Amino acid sequence: MKLNLFLLVLLAATVAANLGINDNPARRNFEVLPEMVYSAAAESFSENSSFADGKTLQSPPAGTIARGARPLPYAATPEDAARAGRELTAPEASAADLARGAELYQVFCRPCHGPGGKGDGTVAMRGFPPPPSFFAERAMNLADGQMFHIVTYGQNNMPSHAAQIEPADRWRIIAHVRSLQKNQGGAQQ
Ligand code: HEC
Repeated sequence: MKLNLFLLVLLAATVAANLGINDNPARRNFEVLPEMVYSAAAESFSENSSFADGKTLQSPPAGTIARGARPLPYAATPEDAARAGRELTAPEASAADLARGAELYQVFCRPCHGPGGKGDGTVAMRGFPPPPSFFAERAMNLADGQMFHIVTYGQNNMPSHAAQIEPADRWRIIAHVRSLQKNQGGAQQ
């Protein structure tokens, strides 16, 4: 008898619970202890008392290297450009690399250095200090690694291109500059 009574109460409770269920799928149903399911996420740039520095977004520990990034242990000085020239070697450039290098040269270098590398780009023609020709003795004698350093860190009026061009593409552009230099006097656009 007691069992029947218990089952009856249980049935009534189940029916009542069912009546309480909201059948509109667009609205969330009643949830028990939702804090267990949804933890309160901190906003990246909000204050956070859990960390000693009070910030939510923590800076990476010193010495962290981003995945895929290769540290370039050079300072933006002419001495380190020369050292890069001695220490870095250009990777072998395939025909596809050269084609991409030529295309990127048109985008990133041509405005100042000109289509063929003579230092006669549109920007230089309009008042920006013109770069020296790639056919001048100094540029002809630059080591590949030194050129890589110049494109990465800039040199005097030449701005750094590290943020715009990834390292592999910098080498491709250098391969293109080398081929321009090799074909000096040949057809230039
Ligand atoms: C905003 C204009 C500008 C752009 C864009 C630019 N350069 Fe330059 N570049 C210069 C100037 C100006 C110099 C000369 C700097 C100096 O006086 O030492 C220079 C110098 C250089 C040199 C050294 C030449 C030498 O004889 O010392 C190299 C190599 C070079 N640029 C490569 C590139 C490459 C490759 C690109 C494209 C990725 C590029 N530059 C984009 C303006 C530019």
